[in-house]
Amino acid sequence: MAAQQTLDAILVVGPSGAIGKALCQALIARKAEFKRIAFFNDTSRPETDEKQSLFATFRNGGMEQVSGKYTDTAAFTGFDCVLMPLGNHAIKYQPTIIDSAITAGVRHFYTSEWGADLSVGSNWTQRYYRDKVLTREHLEKRGRDTDTPDLGWTYIQLGRLTEWSIIKHFGVDNANHVAEIYGTPEGKQSLLSTPDAIAYTLETLRHPFSTTDSGHRRTYRFHGSSPTWEEIFNELETITGHKYAVTYRDVETAVEKEARAKRLGDVDLELEASHQLIQGRGGTLLSGPFDNGLFPNIHPESVHSVFERIFKDSETRKFLGVS
Ligand SMILES: NC(=O)c1ccc[n+]([C@@H]2O[C@H](COP(=O)([O-])OP(=O)(O)OC[C@H]3O[C@@H](n4cnc5c(N)ncnc54)[C@H](OP(=O)(O)O)[C@@H]3O)[C@@H](O)[C@H]2O)c1
Repeated sequence: MAAQQTLDAILVVGPSGAIGKALCQALIARKAEFKRIAFFNDTSRPETDEKQSLFATFRNGGMEQVSGKYTDTAAFTGFDCVLMPLGNHAIKYQPTIIDSAITAGVRHFYTSEWGADLSVGSNWTQRYYRDKVLTREHLEKRGRDTDTPDLGWTYIQLGRLTEWSIIKHFGVDNANHVAEIYGTPEGKQSLLSTPDAIAYTLETLRHPFSTTDSGHRRTYRFHGSSPTWEEIFNELETITGHKYAVTYRDVETAVEKEARAKRLGDVDLELEASHQLIQGRGGTLLSGPFDNGLFPNIHPESVHSVFERIFKDSETRKFLGVS
């Protein structure tokens, strides 16, 4: 039997983001299981007090800080896995990060996924997924290079993170209890909470694999639940005590919204419209088989429990648009 590998020296690129921060905190909590855990301080990015104090908590927790630019090969030396939880405007840098890290000897990548199955419906050609698709294509191309047959990757698929499903970007205004949804009340999406997504990601890092039969090129699919919009608004109304005035729009009208945003050069609006198209066409509904059973110690939190928790917490209330 071929030897099983584990990922023991981990570098997080994009540690100050929502997912990056949670990943770093989870790595710190389990640091005894790894040889090396580190985060990447991108020196080309603005240095804010908030970021510096966050990085200090990571260092105090036992993470190593690696500083440099994405083109600095030396910064990636000594790691066997790079995780890239990058924001919308940074996802396009992943091929550069991958090339620098490969040159430094890294052979495993977690790309900026943590979302839908890119291969279903029209997802592959959606604007929102453009740079995620280019990243996959780049990684898979490098994986065919004769000098890197051991190059591997992990894609984590879950649909939508529950906390994100009810924000302005998807048409939900929690301050005024109104919503404009591209789709229908029966439209479904798959939801998994961020803590569960992070917990599953950590388990996959510890999950051994072999490089035979493409065992080092992994896709995991984790499922929480798949409610309809109607069920989501029922939960929201129960938890907030407010009736939501919901308008459902023909999903295909988001095509025009996306084209208008493109003409205006408004990338964020373009991504929002593209996201609404994906959502409304059922692109974030994840189908099985799922990999939850590999890690039975994780019990995904219900949508009700997630909403209850995030409407109570002052930080997440801000994220939801309520003071
Ligand atoms: N399925 C879902 O519902 C869902 C929800 C949320 C996120 N996600 C996925 O999770 C991944 C991470 O998302 P996130 O929300 O955690 O990201 P984020 O918080 O928006 O950004 C992550 C980090 O990216 C870096 N960054 C942002 N803009 C940049 C720019 N213009 N140039 C260079 N760096 C920039 C920043 O780090 P520095 O400033 O430190 O450089 C930032 O902290 C993405 O793949 C996203 O699609 C999925």
